[in-house]
Amino acid sequence: MSQTASASAGLRVAVLFSGRGSNLESLAKHMAQDSVPAELVLGISNRPKAGGIEICAARNIPCQVIDHKDFDNRAAFEAVLHEAVTEAQVDLICCAGFMRLLTAEFVTAWHDRLINIHPSLLPAYKGLNTHARALQDGVATHGCSVHYMRPEMDDGPVIVQKQVPVLPDDTPDTLAARVLGVEHGAYCDALDIVIKKMADTA
Ligand code: GRF
Repeated sequence: MSQTASASAGLRVAVLFSGRGSNLESLAKHMAQDSVPAELVLGISNRPKAGGIEICAARNIPCQVIDHKDFDNRAAFEAVLHEAVTEAQVDLICCAGFMRLLTAEFVTAWHDRLINIHPSLLPAYKGLNTHARALQDGVATHGCSVHYMRPEMDDGPVIVQKQVPVLPDDTPDTLAARVLGVEHGAYCDALDIVIKKMADTA
């Protein structure tokens, strides 16, 4: 049975991704449960070769590639993005490894309906290379954050954070793998919180 056919009615969710798609897959599995009142109605990748595209195909999740390289500027790219999510009647957008900065206009248009996962304990280590920077600083604890997006990069109210220890022999890769291990649950927990909040305020 397809993802769309089996999902219970509820919040209509789009996931934006650029790569591997392990958070996308985790969110898809979560929403496929009848007990979760949300439906993953659309995956969108800005990269034509992103691994997440195959995850969508395997789960019968409609997926669109909107390649940012096909557009002259961010506004033109985002106009098509906005059209795609609007056409799919999306209530909530989840960025999961989506490696494009979104303009203030887009973020403001989706205020409190646009969330992101970031591999650090925000507000620490905004931006890229979070694991290497955490190791360089010698921090004892690292982790991930799921947060509402605001116009500033990696800014906005935190919904869920999960911590992991930093071990003496860690490399950026081993630390990234440990953080990824808690990202999947963190994103599902955050989704549950947002679903409830949106239902309460509807
Ligand atoms: C995750 O570590 C996420 O926090 C970061 O990019 C990575 C995406 O991984 N923003 P995946 O594509 O979900 O597997």
